[in-house]
Amino acid sequence: MLSTTLCLLFFLLCLKTAFSSSLHLCSHEEAAALLQFKTSFPIDYTVCYTNYSKTESWKEGIDCCSWDGVSCDNVTGHVIALDLSSDCLSGTFPSNSTLFLLKNLKSLNLSFNDFRFSEIPPEISQFTRLKHLDISHSEFSGQVPAEIAHLSKLVSLNLSDLLSFEYDNIVVSSLGNLILETTTLRNLVQNLSEVRELVLSGVNMTSVNPRFFMNLSSSLTTLDLSYTVLGGNFPNSIFHLPNLKNFYLDGSFGERNLTIDLPSSNWSSPLQQLYLHDVDCGRRLPESIGDLKSLQSLSLFYCNLEGSIPTSIGNLSELTSLNLAINQFSGPIPASIGNLRQLTSLHLSCNQFSGPILASIGNLTQLTSLGLSSNNLSGQIPSSLANLTQLTYLSLSYNQFSGPIPFHAIRFSKLSELDLSYNLLNGTLPPWIFTLPLLEYLYLNHNQFQGQINQFQENSLTWLDLSNNKLQGSIPNSIANLVNLSYLDLSSNHFSDLVEADMFSALQNLEIIFRSDNNLSLRMNANANFTLPKLTYVSFSSCNLSEFPNFLRHSNGLQNLMLSKNSIHGNIPEWICEKDDLEILDLSHNNLMGKIPNCLPKFLSVLNLQANYFDGNIPRWICEKDDLEILDLSHNNLIGKIPNRLPKFLSVLNLQANYFDGNIPFGFLEFCVLQNLNLHGNQMDGLLPRSLVNCSMLEVLDVGNNSIEDTFPHWLESLPDLQVLVLRSNKFHGSVQSTKESPSFPKLRVLDLSSNYFVGALPVRYIENFNAMMDPHKDGNLDRIQ
Ligand SMILES: *[C@@H]1O[C@H](CO)[C@@H](O)[C@H](O)[C@H]1NC(C)=O
Ligand SMILES: *[C@@H]1O[C@H](CO)[C@@H](O)[C@H](O)[C@H]1NC(C)=O
Ligand SMILES: *[C@@H]1O[C@H](CO)[C@@H](O)[C@H](O)[C@H]1NC(C)=O
Ligand SMILES: *[C@@H]1O[C@H](CO)[C@@H](O)[C@H](O)[C@H]1NC(C)=O
Ligand SMILES: *[C@@H]1O[C@H](CO)[C@@H](O)[C@H](O)[C@H]1NC(C)=O
Ligand SMILES: *[C@@H]1O[C@H](CO)[C@@H](O)[C@H](O)[C@H]1NC(C)=O
Ligand SMILES: *[C@@H]1O[C@H](CO)[C@@H](O)[C@H](O)[C@H]1NC(C)=O
Ligand SMILES: *[C@@H]1O[C@H](CO)[C@@H](O)[C@H](O)[C@H]1NC(C)=O
Ligand SMILES: *[C@@H]1O[C@H](CO)[C@@H](O)[C@H](O)[C@H]1NC(C)=O
Ligand SMILES: *[C@@H]1O[C@H](CO)[C@@H](O)[C@H](O)[C@H]1NC(C)=O
Ligand SMILES: *[C@@H]1O[C@H](CO)[C@@H](O)[C@H](O)[C@H]1NC(C)=O
Ligand SMILES: *[C@@H]1O[C@H](CO)[C@@H](O)[C@H](O)[C@H]1NC(C)=O
Repeated sequence: MLSTTLCLLFFLLCLKTAFSSSLHLCSHEEAAALLQFKTSFPIDYTVCYTNYSKTESWKEGIDCCSWDGVSCDNVTGHVIALDLSSDCLSGTFPSNSTLFLLKNLKSLNLSFNDFRFSEIPPEISQFTRLKHLDISHSEFSGQVPAEIAHLSKLVSLNLSDLLSFEYDNIVVSSLGNLILETTTLRNLVQNLSEVRELVLSGVNMTSVNPRFFMNLSSSLTTLDLSYTVLGGNFPNSIFHLPNLKNFYLDGSFGERNLTIDLPSSNWSSPLQQLYLHDVDCGRRLPESIGDLKSLQSLSLFYCNLEGSIPTSIGNLSELTSLNLAINQFSGPIPASIGNLRQLTSLHLSCNQFSGPILASIGNLTQLTSLGLSSNNLSGQIPSSLANLTQLTYLSLSYNQFSGPIPFHAIRFSKLSELDLSYNLLNGTLPPWIFTLPLLEYLYLNHNQFQGQINQFQENSLTWLDLSNNKLQGSIPNSIANLVNLSYLDLSSNHFSDLVEADMFSALQNLEIIFRSDNNLSLRMNANANFTLPKLTYVSFSSCNLSEFPNFLRHSNGLQNLMLSKNSIHGNIPEWICEKDDLEILDLSHNNLMGKIPNCLPKFLSVLNLQANYFDGNIPRWICEKDDLEILDLSHNNLIGKIPNRLPKFLSVLNLQANYFDGNIPFGFLEFCVLQNLNLHGNQMDGLLPRSLVNCSMLEVLDVGNNSIEDTFPHWLESLPDLQVLVLRSNKFHGSVQSTKESPSFPKLRVLDLSSNYFVGALPVRYIENFNAMMDPHKDGNLDRIQ
């Protein structure tokens, strides 16, 4: 008996081996259909992220059931599953595609291809046996065809069209190009009675009425509606679906006022993941949230929730991730959060939580990410935080924490970002901060830390902000080893020694550097020969610099250069002209001299040379610098005439305290966006140019201390924003009285007419709106006017 069975089994095995090696299971028609499909998408690896397409293995003469990506029914030989995901298929998807001949397909995966924004062919409804359809991320566009609702056997449908990319460590997502209409959705919901997973993220549902989500299949386990631009009230019957585990809803920046009412009882779904983002969740987080015993991930981000977090949150013992950021929660962080021992991620930033952090937070020893920034939390940082040794991210910024950093030992060996900025922390910086092996971002700015800082032991830092503290002593020379640093801000501290510029020579990745307002001197070695090629932003204000920092010469991407309040002498170096990206150049309050350079960086928008010793004329280039918005040449020794054309978009022109003479030559001001014009303290004569009336944005006009001979500029009365008008110490004459009735300087608050030859009284209506008036008693006419 046994031997017979063995014998039979052996025979069957032999038979099976013989069949699969000699017989083609796959029918000729289906093989031909697949080969034809292959030829409609010639592979070009230069346009995709893969270097192998499964269709490469598709060859005539070989059983199609053995081709990559193709699966057949063992008995019938029909192709029943096709996985062509990430297969470098690129080109429009033909509606007469031979793929539609594969009538027995149960599973089709075309995700991550590039169908060049073709529409989903309505012929897709011919796959009447389809259970799994995944055409996500494959660059389809247009309306999802109504015929998709014919696929009534679908168990999973993925139309995700979400475009996500990472930018500066932030994942940015946006809508794709597929549009789903209300009727199609309604039919889908009605007909897909067996559907378990429905992924529609990134599909444009602007026109969909969310009430049609009311009748979803009770089999549903996953519903993904992130970034769908839905608007209106989403039915909360969703929370009664008996199998729903994962629900993602995102109101896409709140534009369409999506709302959902969180039920106050009877959450019958066995939810594991609940994400409601940019949705108005109806004010309160109900106590019943604690009933969701299987919840692993809860993210109610930007949901307009207020009041306190219910203590029942502590019952969610499976929770690994809790994100309640950007709401208006207030009151203390409930102590019961300390029960959530599985938590790896806790984000409560941007709320109004107050009071101290309770020590029980130290019980959450699995936490890798903790964000509590931008609340009203206060008191000392609890020392139990040192138990959170798995942390990679810790932010307590923008609160009112005070006292010292309370830990001594080095516990945070995995930390990559530590942000304690904008608090009231004091004391010295603990040595362990400078030894964290993986730390990349360190923000300690805007606190009251004092004392010296230690040497950096590691060179992992890319971002270091120690500004606005009371740190003293030397800048540690180990900064020179931070070769990965791109941002360095040491400004506004009490550092007190002399630093050689060479210290920065190894920081080849530095993009942004501030060290302003220290007592510190920065010494340039005359032979310094190094380059910081990536620098874009440099601020060395008040650094006792006596020379122009020539090591910037080859920093070709420089955008902002601020060197004000030093004692830099000599001329502006000529290489400044070659800095094509330079937008802001501030050299004010130095000892620079000579002529203003004959060329300036192409796209400069702010030039501040105030309080130096420049002489000579304003160079002609000014006429052509239409990008210039702010030009401050005040307090120099400039002479000659003011050019008769100004940069088109100039909004601030300050030429105060120079030796300019001649007329104010603004006879051309037809297009004028000037807001502030200051010519005070020159030797200008002639009339005030009438075209100033075209400068409808003018807020400040100061022509005091010149020799202008004109009558009172009644014609300026109509300037809607003029706040300050200074005409003092000129040769203005005649009556200030106006014959017109209105309008009359609607916003004026400073009017200085002193030391002129005006006669008569000041019209009352001019001063009706005055909040302030300067120098009313100066010698001359104003007394008489009163
Ligand atoms: C394709 O890329 C992978 C990973 O980049 C590599 O391991 C593989 O060798 C490459 N294959 C070919 C054929 O270039
Ligand atoms: C078909 O055969 C494969 C490989 O021999 C096996 O893994 C699979 O389970 C079989 N499928 C069915 C439906 O019998
Ligand atoms: C389709 O293929 C992608 C990429 O391999 C995979 O991530 C996805 O899970 C597949 N879809 C389905 C429904 O199996
Ligand atoms: C599909 O239609 C196009 C024209 O619309 C035609 O060129 C092509 O041969 C057709 N393909 C098949 C497989 O019938
Ligand atoms: C529902 O599915 C059936 C079977 O595929 C189909 O005949 C019917 O047209 C579908 N209904 C809608 C509204 O699409
Ligand atoms: C599309 O969604 C299905 C169902 O949830 C899922 O199995 C599949 O992995 C998703 N596809 C991709 C590419 O993520
Ligand atoms: C969404 O689709 C509507 C048409 O239904 C269209 O007017 C709108 O521009 C689309 N929105 C986006 C962001 O593409
Ligand atoms: C959303 O609400 C705001 C203010 O309540 C309203 O101004 C806006 O028109 C609404 N948007 C839509 C799409 O209903
Ligand atoms: C936290 O742990 C401490 C002991 O480390 C324990 O006394 C306390 O009860 C715990 N708190 C919570 C809320 O679990
Ligand atoms: C922190 O850990 C120490 C020992 O590692 C333990 O004694 C203490 O109770 C813990 N604190 C909390 C709040 O869990
Ligand atoms: C730090 O701040 C606390 C409270 O704000 C204060 O009591 C303490 O004296 C300060 N310590 C130092 C060293 O300034
Ligand atoms: C500066 O260094 C570059 C190359 O590193 C070299 O070509 C150049 O001659 C040096 N200049 C001076 C003044 O040493």
